Amino acid sequence: MNVDGTPYRSITLASDGWSVEVVDQTKLPHEFIMARLTTLDDAASAIRTMVVRGAPLIGATAAYGLALALRSDSSDASLSTACDLLLQTRPTAVNLRWAIDAMREAVAALPETERATAAYRRAAVLCDDDVATNRAIGKHGLGLLLALHDKQRGDRLNILTHCNAGWLATVDWGTALAPIYMAHDDGLPVHVWVDETRPRNQGANLTAWELAQHGVPHTIIADNTGGHLMQHGLVDCCIVGTDRTTASGDVCNKIGTYLKALAAHDNGVPFYVALPGTTIDWSITDGVDQIPIEERDAREVTQVTGRDDQGSQVTVTIGPAGSAAANYAFDVTPARLVTALITERGPCPANADGLAALYPEAAGHTGQPQERIRNETDLMP
Ligand code: MRU
Repeated sequence: MNVDGTPYRSITLASDGWSVEVVDQTKLPHEFIMARLTTLDDAASAIRTMVVRGAPLIGATAAYGLALALRSDSSDASLSTACDLLLQTRPTAVNLRWAIDAMREAVAALPETERATAAYRRAAVLCDDDVATNRAIGKHGLGLLLALHDKQRGDRLNILTHCNAGWLATVDWGTALAPIYMAHDDGLPVHVWVDETRPRNQGANLTAWELAQHGVPHTIIADNTGGHLMQHGLVDCCIVGTDRTTASGDVCNKIGTYLKALAAHDNGVPFYVALPGTTIDWSITDGVDQIPIEERDAREVTQVTGRDDQGSQVTVTIGPAGSAAANYAFDVTPARLVTALITERGPCPANADGLAALYPEAAGHTGQPQERIRNETDLMP
């Protein structure tokens, strides 16, 4: 996507042909700067400290992290240590495991002398595939938005989103935001309610910045506002991303997503989840019991970072000193609260049959796949 008119991806190979550049997301929205990763440890630390974040981008960064590791040591031991280190950086996004498995498969059987080159090549393909996947998600999601807009006879379409599932969370386009960008580019009158997304404020800092760069009308709201807006008919649909989706359609996403889904359900507002197939964990069927929920440093809850009047980034403490704080990073929205999943292969109901119909090659599914969804209005409440 464009930043001040120049096209960027969130991660790219630097002009030296081996180091990796990523947008430093801890500096946005006040500064747009690239961080340079030159070692495996740089990549692992960027994921851990959320210089990069968002499930698909975590996977892409891990892929390049492995390439960097193999560039300095292409032995079996180095490959295995690097995979283990990266796997431990963030536990919830399943794309991380998927990307590491894909990289390992591409290089493990090769002679050591060929591994680094093959790893860079595989990482580049993984990134290009992510862009194509998100573009396809955008097109399928656009179909749903057009149908929704037709249904309400041409008024402004108010879409609520949580966290950041835009281009910064992927290599480009984003998942939840891709249909919104395409709708806006098509001339559809869209407006986005942006949940601030405490504690790290990915909505206020990243989603709002992305939307502003693309000229999409939007309004930042406190996280607790969505229910009120829905009760008053001010939200036409919600679209969010996901870090891990079970084979039965349960969706794990940024903490607070579940509460938005409950409010949407209570108010008859369609709740859509946009995802690439790489976010589906085919090995599990119960999101609440089986998805590991990351718990992060409590200081992310008790401290807030922003810019002061002099333009410097400052961090201040909220709450009384000594109060305990808990920082659960994700929650699970049960499939019954999800109106539809929007994948790169099309939309489908959030259930085992819906997913299996789109991904028949996925192992472990039991049950009779139902017909693929053909009519967008089938996916409205
Ligand atoms: O903790 P984060 O910022 O990595 O969480 C990101 C999200 O929750 C996104 O919604 C999810 O990764 C989907 S990104 C396309």
